[in-house]
Amino acid sequence: MVDTSNSIKHVASPLARQTLQDGSLTRPVAGGRPRRLLPWLQVVKIGGRSIMDRGAEAILPIVEELRKLLPEHRLLILTGAGIRARHVYSVGLDLGLPVGSLAPLAASEAGQNGHILASLLAPEGVSYVEHPTIANQLAIHLSATRAVVGSAFPPYHHHEFPGSRIPSHRADTGAFLLADALGAAGLTIVEDVDGVCTADPHGPEAAQAQLIRETSVAELCKVGGTLPFDRALLDVMATARHIERVQIVNGLVPGRLTAALRGEHVGTIVRTGASAV
Ligand SMILES: Nc1ncnc2c1ncn2[C@@H]1O[C@H](COP(=O)(O)OP(=O)(O)OP(=O)(O)O)[C@@H](O)[C@H]1O
Ligand SMILES: [Mg+2]
Repeated sequence: MVDTSNSIKHVASPLARQTLQDGSLTRPVAGGRPRRLLPWLQVVKIGGRSIMDRGAEAILPIVEELRKLLPEHRLLILTGAGIRARHVYSVGLDLGLPVGSLAPLAASEAGQNGHILASLLAPEGVSYVEHPTIANQLAIHLSATRAVVGSAFPPYHHHEFPGSRIPSHRADTGAFLLADALGAAGLTIVEDVDGVCTADPHGPEAAQAQLIRETSVAELCKVGGTLPFDRALLDVMATARHIERVQIVNGLVPGRLTAALRGEHVGTIVRTGASAV
């Protein structure tokens, strides 16, 4: 009788004999550009603090703008966390909670903002969907309706890196990771400022703040100071596969989001690492 035990156990794979840590060895198999899963999708991140926390005055005009955009675009609308998450951070930090415990608490606030936005868009057939649905069933949901709403927070939870006491991967990072993994057509980040400025336009140096119309992730990495988005977004933009540019727009100015989704330059455009490929 022939001994087949060795051949039964063997699963042929070009990666079988490689260390997965050596890029030059894995590149022939793993170096190709990934397929765009949803190339027609536009991802829009709505600021938690900058838009949602302002209540009806800011939210209702954005809802109206999103409603009018539905015939033109299929949207994944992702919400940030805002002030309630900051309260949760301060209570959690006071209690000495580790960063991985704070991340899901803040994420739940982003989800609440998503539920609010989805409820206001419900007459248009828009619903809130949880992360597993975004991961597994986004295509079928967007075949049934023009847009869905989700939480922009990435599901790091206890996998959050412990470098900072406050989760470093927040809503902007989460929105970008999703948009890039899905191979979306674009990502627009909606804030309460015209874009990235040389200084915080709401801070003590507001008088010197000038709008930067266009920049790159490499240029932003060189400058210190604050930004209107998570600093970790710079890391994930640097290694982007699909999303070549992100536009940051002022959602308090009617028509800016609409113009950005139509490809117009109305805020700050940040070129990612994918634009250099
Ligand atoms: N260099 C900068 N250029 C423009 N805005 C800046 C800059 N630095 C700081 N900001 C500030 O960032 C604010 C936006 O804050 P933040 O990004 O925390 O809000 P958000 O995106 O709504 O929050 P969330 O991430 O919870 O959704 C702006 O209102 C602005 O005052
Ligand atoms: Mg922001």
